[in-house]
Amino acid sequence: MPRSRRVGVGAEPRFRLPARNMLDEQLGQVLQGLWAELSRGAADRHHGFHVPTLCTIGCDGAPVARSVVLRRVIAEACEIVCHTDVRSDKVAEIGHDPRVAWHFYAPELKLQVRVSAVAAIHTFDARADEGWARSPLSSRRCYLAPRAPGSACDAPSPNLPAGILDRRPTEDESAPGRANFAVVVTRAMAIDWLFLASEGHQRARFTRSADGSGWDGSWIEP
Ligand SMILES: Cc1cc2nc3c(=O)[nH]c(=O)nc-3n(C[C@H](O)[C@H](O)[C@H](O)COP(=O)(O)O)c2cc1C
Repeated sequence: MPRSRRVGVGAEPRFRLPARNMLDEQLGQVLQGLWAELSRGAADRHHGFHVPTLCTIGCDGAPVARSVVLRRVIAEACEIVCHTDVRSDKVAEIGHDPRVAWHFYAPELKLQVRVSAVAAIHTFDARADEGWARSPLSSRRCYLAPRAPGSACDAPSPNLPAGILDRRPTEDESAPGRANFAVVVTRAMAIDWLFLASEGHQRARFTRSADGSGWDGSWIEP
């Protein structure tokens, strides 16, 4: 039975692909590297990780998946963050059951990362204020939707005020959108890392240690 080994998230931000026949410390490099890539995915809209899939548990118990933009990654806190409309179904679903799953695939890196996490919705607190302040006007426009996402409509509808259909709102015009804006902060609990290579795929699993202070890692068969 292979042992699980304690690994840490170091300060080294460079992503290094591990060699074959990896040593124990290479699990640490893999963990460090995957968080560095997630951070890059939040910062770079051309990165394969920039638009991951966020899965929730529907209020009827069935899984629900959707694309979201990766807004922020804080490796030290194990946080992966996106923004959403507070009226969207995913907010109700997370309120019902905070367990979520993320799926990331970066074809340029041949790297899949799956994360099990626990989510919290921030609406009218410092965290949400910070997210709103970081959001460009082009992103804030979505939150001016007069009707809740998912509402029935008679014909295809952009669900935006007529005056801003073809442009970004001004700062003042964007302000009413703040009431609909939410930050979804998810805290990673387990990670499945899969690196594809023609000479053999590599896969590792990481779980948060029981006291929450670090990660345990182990190699698993791809
Ligand atoms: C490329 C892309 C990026 C998206 N980014 C977001 C996002 O950052 N936040 C969000 O709430 N919805 C985003 N959406 C829309 C969601 O996929 C989804 O349709 C919407 O949030 C409603 O989901 P829900 O009813 O499950 O809550 C995005 C969709 C696409 C195709």
